[in-house]
Order: sequence, then structure tokens, then C-alpha cells
Amino acid sequence: MTDLIQLQTELMARIDAAQDLAAVEALRVEALGKSGSISELLKSLGRMSPDERREQGPKINGLRDAVATALATRKAILEEAELDAKLAAERVDLTLPPPPERRGRVHPTMQTLDEMIAVFADMGFGLAEGPDIEDDFHNFTALNFPPKHPAREMHDTFWLPDGPTGERKLLRTHTSPVQVRVMQKANEKLPSWIANGQEPPIRVIVPGRVYRSDSDATHTPMFHQLEGLVIDRDITLGHLKWTLDTFCRRFFETDAVVTRFRPHHFPFTEPSAEMDVQCDRSGGSIKIGQGSDWLEILGGGMVHPNVLRNCGLDADEWQGFAFGLGVDRLGALKYGMPDLRDMFASDVRWLEHWGFSAFQAPNPATGLS
Ligand code: DAH
Repeated sequence: MTDLIQLQTELMARIDAAQDLAAVEALRVEALGKSGSISELLKSLGRMSPDERREQGPKINGLRDAVATALATRKAILEEAELDAKLAAERVDLTLPPPPERRGRVHPTMQTLDEMIAVFADMGFGLAEGPDIEDDFHNFTALNFPPKHPAREMHDTFWLPDGPTGERKLLRTHTSPVQVRVMQKANEKLPSWIANGQEPPIRVIVPGRVYRSDSDATHTPMFHQLEGLVIDRDITLGHLKWTLDTFCRRFFETDAVVTRFRPHHFPFTEPSAEMDVQCDRSGGSIKIGQGSDWLEILGGGMVHPNVLRNCGLDADEWQGFAFGLGVDRLGALKYGMPDLRDMFASDVRWLEHWGFSAFQAPNPATGLS
């Protein structure tokens, strides 16, 4: 009997003194485990006489219950203390701003292209596309560049190695070869929503990548152009001027844009012109719609009869205009980006600064987003 009381007193003291959950578990095994001190006592009941068992049974069971309860209580106290310590150490400050979230941005060139397409689509232009890898015929010959003419060199062409048939392919130097493809109806492999291959009247724009061996602040070896082509029976230079003036006003979102045509030469148009917009270059940035400086933004003219004939159209029946705009350059102008080379340097910091949100609401004045 005294043994039981002594065992209980000793176990209770050790349970109260246990400093962590591992110590409580060790005590449980020591007392109540398979060969623990109390388990052994419980086993000894089987060897006792019925009288002895009747007397010892309740005491040993009482001891087991008391120790089990003390272990559970100590465990709960220690668990709570552990949680408190954890909460104190890992406190969450709900007043802190959330960590920055990396969002994708729309590249300014793609934003500019979308805006340009929206303006021309509103004027009734369809969309055409053509391959980046072109042949000499579509890029030069059909566009009335005479063979061996220095104008071919003017374009700083990236030539590809000779093909199996000896034909040299090239990376297109401009989007104008798609004019040829549209007029020739040559490109039937493209999806049907692309307006390639239609009979006149033709009214298409052709956005796309073009390539020239050239690199400085205003030139990159790959850049984007948007070509325009309108062919009908009675199209004049006046239509070209109106179309481009209207485009500029809508694209730059101001009626204050002033433009001028300067005579120029392109083999595929006659007459040919370059168009400038009036701007203000003072103060390090270019502002459209003010000032007295001029900036060239595109080339255009009346499609040369030789081009119409090279594409199988009757030049006595059909005539039209064409133009080519630099997409990246117009974007840089509208949004004030100083160096075109940065546009294709793949610097995420640059893109985060100059890029656009993919979820912009459309501007109610222009319908553009
Ligand atoms: N293809 C010309 C270039 O890359 C731009 C151009 C000029 C396109 C006049 C035209 C055009 O369609 O009529 O420099």
C-alpha cells in the first residue's frame, strides 16, 4: 500500500516537473507502457487471490487513472504553452501591404499594333498576312525593283543560304511583298479569316515583322511594319492623304496633328511620297500636335502600273494606293520611348515600366483600349 502511495507521489512530482512533451511521453511509457511500472502492477492482479484482488484492484486501477489524468493534463498545458510561444514568434502583421505580385505586361509594340489595327478596321480595312521568309520575286522583282538595281542593296537584306533548287530566300525587308501575295491570290494556305487573295476592290492592312541588317537608336535588325493597300477603279492620291490624315488624328488622339507629303522615290509607287508629322522636339521629348519640327513616319504612293501587271491585274482597269508605317517607331513616338533597341532587349524591368495592362478598359472617345 505504502508502495503504491510512494509510486503515485513520485510519478505525480515527475509529471508536474516535465518540461516538454517528449518528457511527458517518456513518463507515460515508463508508467503505462507495455512493461511500465503500473502495467506490471495491473498484470500482478491476475496472480492474486480473489480477496487480495478485491482489495488491491481498485487501488491499482485508481493509481492508473490518476497517473493517466495527470499525464493528459500536463500534456495539454505544455501543448498550449508551445502554441502560445509559436503565436508570439510568428505573429502576422495584417497591416502590412501584400507582397508584390508579378503581372504580365503587353509589349508596347503589340499595344501600338492593336491600336493601329482598330483605327484601320474602323475605316473598313481587312487584315492580310504573309511569310517572314520570302523569295526575291515577292520582296523585290514583283515590286518593280529592277534586277541588280542598287535599291535592292538599300534594304540591307538578310539573305539565307542557297536552297536545294539554287533559289536564295531572304528575311523580308518590308511588308510590301504581301501586297503582291494579296493581289496574286497566292496565299491560299492561310486561314480563311485572313483577307488574302481577294479580287479588287482590295482594302487591306498587313501588320508584320520585317528584317534589315541595321542597328542604332532608331533602327533595329527586326522591327514591325504595317502595310496598307487599296485597289479599285477610281482611287486617287487624295484618298491616300485623307486615309493617312484620319489615321494620324485617331491614332495620336488629337485633331491638332499636322501632316505633309514630301516627294520621294519607291520603285513600287508612282508618284511616291514620304509623310511627316509636325511635332515639337524641344525639351528632350517629341510632342505631336504642337511645335514646328517635322518627323518622317511613313512612305506611300500610287501603286505602280508595273506592280499591278506583275500581279496579274489589268493596269488600265485598276489603280490604287499603298503605304508602309513603322509600328515600333510610331509607338515610341506616341508613348515617348527614347531608344528603339530597348524594345527588343527583353529586359523585364523595361517591360514593366513601358508595358501595358492586358485588362485596360476601352477609351470611350476612341474605342481603343
Ligand atoms: N516598303 C517601304 C519600306 O519599307 C515602305 C513603303 C513605301 C510601303 C511606300 C509602301 C509604299 O506600300 O507605297 O521602306
